[in-house]
Amino acid sequence: MPRIEADALTKRFGSLTAVDRLSFDVKEGEVFGLLGPNGAGKTTTVRMLACLILPSEGSGRVGGHDIIKDSMKIREIVGILTENPSLYDRLTPYENMSFFAQAYGLSDQQQRRSRIRELLDFFNLWERRNDKVGAFSKGMKQKLAIARTLVHEPPILLLDEPTSGLDPESAKEIRDLISSLSQRENHTILLCTHHLEDAERLCSRVMIINRGSRIIIGTPQELRNRTSNKTAIEISLKVYDLRLVQAVEEVEQVSEVTVDKSRGRLVITAEDPDNSTPEIVRRIVYSGGEILSVSIVQPSLEEAYLKFVKG
Ligand SMILES: Nc1ncnc2c1ncn2[C@@H]1O[C@H](COP(=O)(O)OP(=O)(O)OP(=O)(O)O)[C@@H](O)[C@H]1O
Ligand SMILES: [Mg+2]
Repeated sequence: MPRIEADALTKRFGSLTAVDRLSFDVKEGEVFGLLGPNGAGKTTTVRMLACLILPSEGSGRVGGHDIIKDSMKIREIVGILTENPSLYDRLTPYENMSFFAQAYGLSDQQQRRSRIRELLDFFNLWERRNDKVGAFSKGMKQKLAIARTLVHEPPILLLDEPTSGLDPESAKEIRDLISSLSQRENHTILLCTHHLEDAERLCSRVMIINRGSRIIIGTPQELRNRTSNKTAIEISLKVYDLRLVQAVEEVEQVSEVTVDKSRGRLVITAEDPDNSTPEIVRRIVYSGGEILSVSIVQPSLEEAYLKFVKG
């Protein structure tokens, strides 16, 4: 049974339709990426699923509960990280966490303390536990907001731009956390992101939306395969020589060779690179070329995204 389901979910703000009959589901243990340009309707979709706003039409279920009728049950099992998390600036991180832990029903004080300590430790905020949150940097606030999202150990997470504002090291920690929560603990995660590399690394499936509607849904691999750009074989040479280009062009499967002379690199488009690459390498070596590296470069999810959003 899917853990998150949206069925013709629609949200109108006055005359604007922010989310337009959107249907999709997210399976248990899956990290599902919700992608799309600014204003596409990602945050609005997440807010409806988290029962923060009501849909204008359509329906949704989270953990088997109806988003319109069972909002209390959904709050218990869902952790939501919103775009602009509201933390209490005049409280400390510890107090912020404690407040939310109690709101989420963690009544056992000992249990609450150890959970808060564990999370603040994980996010390197334990030492700052007694400072006021108002004086925190943007990234520190973001980490605290993520810690807060996890305080009641929810099995379903709705994360809106979790790595926004984080330094590269912290962003990597969050990525690792997301993949470990889904793989080891079988958490179900809906991830809104503009970081297409993150989406490629983390998500088993992604959906691109624009103007509130679905453009495409599939695995990152499926989306990449649908770009017109083909897989390329890139070969770096110690010394560039026109004869080597000619040698490569003679290989039957090769359809195009472009040369990046400044970097001594050939970019080759060929059918069936798994089989044509060894032959290409052989020809270069026979012709006296010295190869520094060979790599097979697939079109990225970013290329696919740009194609679908522009198209
Ligand atoms: N409370 C609101 N009142 C009126 N319009 C709103 C409201 N919330 C969102 N919208 C509009 O709905 C559309 C979708 O906004 P949403 O925040 O869902 O986009 P998004 O995909 O999350 O974009 P971003 O990538 O910039 O975060 C936008 O046109 C936005 O102006
Ligand atoms: Mg948004």
